[in-house]
Amino acid sequence: MTDAFSVLKADHTEVETMLTRLVGGSGPASGSAGDPAGTAQELVMEESRHEAAEEMYFWPAVQEKVAGGDRLADEAERQEGEGKRVLDELRKAKPGDGRFDELVTAFASAGRAHIAFEEEQVWPKLRAVLSPQESAELGQELTTAKQAGPTRPHPNAPDSPGALKTAGAAAAMVDKARDAVTGRGN
Ligand SMILES: [Fe+2]
Ligand SMILES: [Fe+2]
Repeated sequence: MTDAFSVLKADHTEVETMLTRLVGGSGPASGSAGDPAGTAQELVMEESRHEAAEEMYFWPAVQEKVAGGDRLADEAERQEGEGKRVLDELRKAKPGDGRFDELVTAFASAGRAHIAFEEEQVWPKLRAVLSPQESAELGQELTTAKQAGPTRPHPNAPDSPGALKTAGAAAAMVDKARDAVTGRGN
C-alpha cells in the first residue's frame, strides 16, 4: 500500500509538470506546451480530483490529528477556493482569447504557493502523528476518492467533507457523463 504522502506527492509532481509545460519553470510566461488548451484541460481535471480528495480525507485527518489543524485547514480551504475560481474560468477560456495566459499565470502562482504550503507547513506535522498503518489507509482513501472525483472545479459547491461525499459524487457523475459526450480528457 502506498502512504498518503506518496499519493499526494505524485499528484503535485504531475501538476508541476503541467504548469512547467504551460508557463515554464519560473519567471514570466515562457511555456512550451505543444497543446496549451489540452494541457490546461488536463490541469483542470487533475486539480479538481486532487483537491476534492484532499477535502474529503486529507484535511479532516489534519483537523483530527494535528494541533492547530483547524487553522491550517481553514487557510488551505481559502487557497483552494481561490484556485477553483481561477480554474473554473480557465476551463472556459481558449488560448488566444487574452484571458487564457492571464489565468494560467494566476493559477501557476496560486497553485505553486498552495502546494508549498501543504508540503512545507502541513505534511511534516501530519507525518509526525500518523502511524505507518494510518498513512497507508489515508493513501488508499485518497486514491479511491480521486478515481471517483469530480473533473471540474465546482467553486460554488459546498466543500465540507460530508457534503462532498454525497453532492461531490453526484457532480462527479455529471462531469464524467459530460466528458464522455464531448470527448474531454481523451
Ligand atoms: Fe490542496
Ligand atoms: Fe495537494
